[in-house]
Amino acid sequence: MYTFREIPEEKPKVLIIGSGSKIAEALWRVYKRLPYTDDVFFMTSGHSEYDHKMPPSDSCDFTNRKELKEYCLELQPNVIINTAAYTNVDKAESERQLAWNVNVSGVENIVAVCRLVDAHLIHFSTDYVFDGTHGPYTETDTPHPLGYYAKTKLAGENVCIGGNIDWTIIRTNVLYGATHLLKPDFVMWVLNKLAEKKPFGVVNDQFSNPTLIDDIAYFTHKIIRSRKKGLFHAGGADWCSRYDFARMIAKVFKQDESLIQPITTAELHQAAARPMRGGVIPFKAEATFGIRFSGIESGLLTMRRQLQMDGHHEWAL
Ligand SMILES: NC(=O)c1ccc[n+]([C@@H]2O[C@H](COP(=O)([O-])OP(=O)(O)OC[C@H]3O[C@@H](n4cnc5c(N)ncnc54)[C@H](OP(=O)(O)O)[C@@H]3O)[C@@H](O)[C@H]2O)c1
Repeated sequence: MYTFREIPEEKPKVLIIGSGSKIAEALWRVYKRLPYTDDVFFMTSGHSEYDHKMPPSDSCDFTNRKELKEYCLELQPNVIINTAAYTNVDKAESERQLAWNVNVSGVENIVAVCRLVDAHLIHFSTDYVFDGTHGPYTETDTPHPLGYYAKTKLAGENVCIGGNIDWTIIRTNVLYGATHLLKPDFVMWVLNKLAEKKPFGVVNDQFSNPTLIDDIAYFTHKIIRSRKKGLFHAGGADWCSRYDFARMIAKVFKQDESLIQPITTAELHQAAARPMRGGVIPFKAEATFGIRFSGIESGLLTMRRQLQMDGHHEWAL
């Protein structure tokens, strides 16, 4: 974090697209903690399943190029952060047109607008661009997406890279963290299952390094401030199976770990294939900015504390 002595003089105008996303909410939390403020604007397309009131946002649909252009010509942002995406991995197999429209055509609109107003684009992507044969992955590994969501995310990256703009792509994986509306993530899914007090299965053959949204937000803020360009992998310090992650969730939230049973991915019959050994190695990000991404236990403790502070005492006794 900055100390008051380090308050930067430059004040960029920052537009955050997809204010209903978990990352946008974490960015808002980071900005509230800073001893100064950039000119930050949040934008919502209104597609989020939640009637979210936070962060306060302007309405504009980035999949409508004319609407986005008019909004950005008026605002003239220096930095645009795209946290919006079609993120339903299984549904993307059957809703291909919609997934492409949001994750590729929508990104084309954003890139076109960045060219128009000369803004730096910070765009989020995923470890799902890899096939999971030998993860966790570095920035120099070759993508090979398995499912349709993954293919749209890789196509979206390529739109940024080929768009003749200043771009930064942040690939992350398995995001979790406190949100005021308890938006679904793996942690909330496990906590809801544990609350049913019945045994349930979690796959023990999918590996990743779960990532706290607040760490992503803090890292993104470093990019905003430094204007560092290029591809960065950003992921948590611990690489483990979903089963091990679920056991740690039960432990930190003081629930009954024995309800969690190991199962295999094949037993789930999911519509989309997943990378089995996924995850992203964050060494480049950590070395560039002198930061460290949280491990699972400390990340979950942070989430628990934030839920407590938000009044969600049902999860944080
Ligand atoms: N969640 C993960 O575990 C994970 C892992 C790796 C990478 N990522 C990437 O990180 C970024 C942010 O992920 P997130 O999990 O924070 O996102 P999220 O909670 O799923 O939110 C995505 C947001 O995109 C916007 N959106 C626009 N069009 C949409 C549509 N047709 N359907 C659904 N949402 C639409 C919505 O915000 P508005 O309504 O406000 O516009 C929505 O709240 C994405 O690029 C994602 O691919 C996520």
